[in-house]
Amino acid sequence: MNLVDRDRAVVWHPYTQMKTAAAPLPIVRGQGVYLYTEDGRRLLDGTSSWWVNIHGHAHPRLNQAIAEQAKKLEHVIFAGATHEPAVELAERLVGALPAGLTRIFYSDNGSTAVEAAIKMAVQYWQNVGQPSRTRIVALHHAYHGDTVGAMSVSDASVFTAPFASLLFPVDRVDPSDVERHLEEHGDRVAAVIVEPMLQGAGGMIMWPAESLARVRECCYRHGVLLIADEVLTGFGRTGRMFACEHAAVTPDIMCLSKALTAGYLPMGVTAATNAIYEGFLSDDRAKTFFHGHSFTANPLACAVALASLDLIEEGNLLERIARLERQLRDGLAPLASLPNVGDVRVLGGVGAIELVSDKTRKDAGGYLDTIGPRLYDAFLKRGLLLRPLGNVLYFMPSYVITDNEVAWVLEQIDAVIRSNL
Ligand SMILES: Cc1ncc(COP(=O)(O)O)c(C=O)c1O
Repeated sequence: MNLVDRDRAVVWHPYTQMKTAAAPLPIVRGQGVYLYTEDGRRLLDGTSSWWVNIHGHAHPRLNQAIAEQAKKLEHVIFAGATHEPAVELAERLVGALPAGLTRIFYSDNGSTAVEAAIKMAVQYWQNVGQPSRTRIVALHHAYHGDTVGAMSVSDASVFTAPFASLLFPVDRVDPSDVERHLEEHGDRVAAVIVEPMLQGAGGMIMWPAESLARVRECCYRHGVLLIADEVLTGFGRTGRMFACEHAAVTPDIMCLSKALTAGYLPMGVTAATNAIYEGFLSDDRAKTFFHGHSFTANPLACAVALASLDLIEEGNLLERIARLERQLRDGLAPLASLPNVGDVRVLGGVGAIELVSDKTRKDAGGYLDTIGPRLYDAFLKRGLLLRPLGNVLYFMPSYVITDNEVAWVLEQIDAVIRSNL
């Protein structure tokens, strides 16, 4: 049996209707921006493998970092023990993060980084004697992950509908309404959670730095914590190392994952200010932050994250992303006038095109729009792996992509969208 037949006998894939889904791509190897299939195809990885891969597949320096660490220590319990890669990574992150984020709490992925952030915010207020601050304010179109807490703060969607009975209530607003909401209800709000600058899975929606600055300011004014979910936006995606830098703001809590380990191993970070951290310091053990995972601060993941930070610093990454942003803006702009294109958006290394059946009606069908699978197939035939979010097609490559490869991708996107399939 080949890989696909064996897969079909025993595997259940994420976000996949197993009854109707096409055969999965049998990937045997990755190198740079390319993936290679068992049946001999080469595909350009246009989503950087779910937004995690920033230095390309099978990077020799990253491979080496994991191999070296594996010879010394693969894993150890992180309650009551510590190790060099975890401490060094925390030191390096604190140096790179917006000033004021001084404590690093490790977990396993983006969703757990968000869960830890929500729990940290709610317990913080209990610990400091304001237990009525329990509400979380979140934005329309938000996506923060698939665990129950992360789903609760995500906007209601086809992803969350079956679990509505499990989700805790959240105050849902637009960025422009945060101020009014906090004026009315601020004293019962624990935190506002946002994806700064770019709402990813909600449809690659970009929102302005001025709004983010205003949200930060009114959170300060009403004594409410700001949680920045930079799981997607961290490590250069929006053109700055962290998206909060666009508005020169420091959140009280920041979530990181995805590109943290350059797409090699799962790891999450919840970074906090000293004020949050001090809210948990007590002689009363009940005020401890009781949260942890078996693989917290996994040394292999820390080692590859450190090697990735080296590559970011050596490679002048932000200049490279600025050039990518210009190329995406120039290449995608002509599509905006097409009748089947509702909007074209670019920020940093992310380009998005919102497809509509008729520009004047903006009648897009959301995540289940059938245009998504049709686009996926059309690009695959051309050797390009893009996975639209329903009617929103986006391109988010690894930073090692060359200008010529970007130009080739833009040609494919142009041709497929003009074919009006
Ligand atoms: C902004 C944001 N937060 C959280 C998550 C969840 O991360 P994970 O899939 O690693 O659980 C995602 C994943 O796409 C994300 O984009």
